Amino acid sequence: MSTFRILLTPGDGIGPEVMEEATKVLGRVERRFRHEFVYDEEKLGGAAIDAYGTALRAETVAKAKQSAAVLFGAVGGPKWDDPKATVRPEDAILGMRKQLGLFANLRPVRVHPLLLGDSTLKPEVLEGTDMVVIRELTGGLYFGKPKKRWTNAAGRQGVDTLRYSEKEIVRICHVAFQLARQRRKKVTSVDKANVLRTGQLWREVATEVGREYPDVTLDHLLVDACAMHLLRRPASFDVIVTENMFGDILTDEAAMLAGSMGMMPSASLGRRRKDGTGIGLYEPIHGSAPDITGQGKANPLAMILSAAMMLRLSLGLEAEAAAIESAVDGVIAGGYRTPDIAGAGTTVVDTRKMGTLVAERL
Ligand code: IPM
Ligand code: MG
Repeated sequence: MSTFRILLTPGDGIGPEVMEEATKVLGRVERRFRHEFVYDEEKLGGAAIDAYGTALRAETVAKAKQSAAVLFGAVGGPKWDDPKATVRPEDAILGMRKQLGLFANLRPVRVHPLLLGDSTLKPEVLEGTDMVVIRELTGGLYFGKPKKRWTNAAGRQGVDTLRYSEKEIVRICHVAFQLARQRRKKVTSVDKANVLRTGQLWREVATEVGREYPDVTLDHLLVDACAMHLLRRPASFDVIVTENMFGDILTDEAAMLAGSMGMMPSASLGRRRKDGTGIGLYEPIHGSAPDITGQGKANPLAMILSAAMMLRLSLGLEAEAAAIESAVDGVIAGGYRTPDIAGAGTTVVDTRKMGTLVAERL
C-alpha cells in the first residue's frame, strides 16, 4: 500500500462544494486500488483574508512543498472585489504558482460527443475537438517588473511589463513538444510576433526547440488569428503553447467549446523527476462562481477530473486516473447532468449526487 500526502485548498465560493465531491471520489480510489491519501487542509484566497488578513500564508506554501500535490478549489468573490484593496484572493493562486515554480499550465479541451449540443458552436464545427493548451504560468505580463501605478502632472499612470527570457520559453516549449509526442504530434505556437519583441523571441525560440523534435509538426499563429481559428476549426488543434496572458484569454475561449467551464480541469506543473512525476497544483478552471454558491448547482466534474490529472501527473497513478475519467464518461453516458450541461432528455442532479454517481461507478 502506498501513501501520498495531498494538500487540499478548497478556497472560496463553490470551491469547498466541489472539493468535497473530489475527495469522495478519491476515497473510492483509495479503497479500490489500496492507496492511502493523507490530506492536509489550508484556507486561502478570500477565506484566508478573512481569517488571517492575507490570501496566502507562508505556512500554506511550506505545506504544499511537503506534499505530492495540491488540489485547489477556487478563489475570489464580490466580498473581496474592491479594486483598491491591497490584498486580493487572486494573490493566492498567483503566489502558489510562483513560489512552487509551476511554470507549465496544462488545460485539456475535449468535447464530449454526448455534450456536443451544449456548446454555443455548431456540433459539426466541434466534432473531434481534442486539444491541450499549454500556458506559460510564471512569466510574462503577470509577473514582469516594473508593475505599478502612480500619479504625475499628466494624471494617473500604470505599467505592467511583458518580459520573457530564452530559458523560460525553451522549457515551456519542451513541455509542449513532449506532450505532442504522446498525442497527434502537432504543436501550434501562439505569439504576437508582428508587434511584440517578446513575440519575435518566442517564435525564434519555439522554432529552435522544434528542430529537436523532427517527428512533431510545428506551426505558428498570431494570437488574434488563433482566437479566430479556435472558433472556426477547433478540431484541427492538438497542442497549443503560448505565453501567460494569451493563454489566460485563449483558455476561457477554448473552455466554451466544451459547452461548460464546469467540465474543464487543469494542471500546473514545475520541474519533473526522472519518472515524469513532480509536484503540481490541480484546479478546475471555472473559478469561484459566487452566483451559484451553496445552491447545489455547481458541476463537480472539473474538480473530479482535476483530481484524476493529479493522480496521473504527480502521483504516477495512470490506471487510477483513467478509472476516474471513465467513471465520469459513464455517468454522462447514463444521462446525468448538473444544470450547466442539462439538455432535453437528461436527468438533472445536484453537486452531491453527481459526485456520488461518479464514486459509485468506481
Ligand atoms: C486563471 C484565472 C487566474 C489567472 C486569475 C484568478 C488570477 O483567470 O487561472 O485562468 O488569470 O491566471
Ligand atoms: Mg483565466
